[in-house]
Amino acid sequence: MSQRLGGLAAVTLLLSACSGTGPQTTLEPQGPLAREIDGLWQLVFVIATVVFILVEAVLVISIIRFRERKGDDRQPKQIHGNTRLEIMWTIIPAVLLAVLAVPTVQGIFAVRTPATGADVLDVKVTGHQWWWEFEYPGIIDAEGNTLTTANELHIPADRPVNLTMTSVDVIHSFWVPPLQGKRDVVPGRLSTLTLEADPEVATTDYGFGDGVIPGQCAEFCGLAHADMRLRVFVHDDDGFQAWSDDQLQPAVVAASGQAADGFATFTSVCTACHQATVQQPDGTVETVGEGNSVTVDDIVFSAALAPDLTHFGSRTTFGGASFDNTPEHLAAWIDNPPALKPMDPDRNDIPAGRILGMPDFGLSTEEIDSLVTMLEEWQ
Ligand code: CUA
Repeated sequence: MSQRLGGLAAVTLLLSACSGTGPQTTLEPQGPLAREIDGLWQLVFVIATVVFILVEAVLVISIIRFRERKGDDRQPKQIHGNTRLEIMWTIIPAVLLAVLAVPTVQGIFAVRTPATGADVLDVKVTGHQWWWEFEYPGIIDAEGNTLTTANELHIPADRPVNLTMTSVDVIHSFWVPPLQGKRDVVPGRLSTLTLEADPEVATTDYGFGDGVIPGQCAEFCGLAHADMRLRVFVHDDDGFQAWSDDQLQPAVVAASGQAADGFATFTSVCTACHQATVQQPDGTVETVGEGNSVTVDDIVFSAALAPDLTHFGSRTTFGGASFDNTPEHLAAWIDNPPALKPMDPDRNDIPAGRILGMPDFGLSTEEIDSLVTMLEEWQ
């Protein structure tokens, strides 16, 4: 019985290797930096396969040829301490490792060195329990606000994007497998990572729409670690320009109706943690809600208590890129966030900037509906 179970487990494991590759695979690189890592992996895989086949062949031949036979109780020739063999099986692996060290070290420098040049896009990344904040220091609106978004990182194709990253709470790890290796995001420290996507990525659908590549936090960071996801939207140059121009516009506050009611709730409840840059019905543009920042090695990172919602309606996901952005999901979320995602808002300490999730504010159905209407209009 246990043999059968063992056999079944082995077959299941073997067959699982035949399943299709998911969108978060490292084995189908979509950019030059990921390809660098993949090339190294291919080389190691080929060498390791050859070594495996040779070793297994010698093992199998030895087992069959030198097995104990009936009526033959001779001892095999004892070769313990054979100097020539020992030198051989020391030198061969040493040479293999030395050969692999060359492309490995080259690869480490290739994927770790920040890009330089006029076409580099800079993005600052702040890791939060449990969402990602992205700030584009070179993209600034008329009021001097820096383009800031959450969980969905938009980048141009075929251009290096230098990420400068830190965390406000615990260690996270930024990982978009088809574009780059992972990099830890550590409170009080800077880490950098360069992303680059191939030109054709912008027009390829990997299962989430054209140019959308999923990623996620790859370092256990507490309750909702598995729901600390992200999406990278890869645009052609015109598409990226259009997106960033649009994101610099303020959200328009409705003068009346459900969306106007939503804004009243927004400023009395939500802006304790969230912000939005809005254009009031009288035309004035202002940012509502408290911002926050952290400074690491003289670099100031936006470190808001919760995502900026100015363009919430333009995002395809929310809640750490864990939920599709639909009015139904959003209403359920606002009604009781911890019911949808493991969080610990009872331990929130707003003055200290310590946020462990969005609480249930006990809003009425009317208040929730009007907030949903307003947020989905904020394209
Ligand atoms: Cu952040 Cu896991």
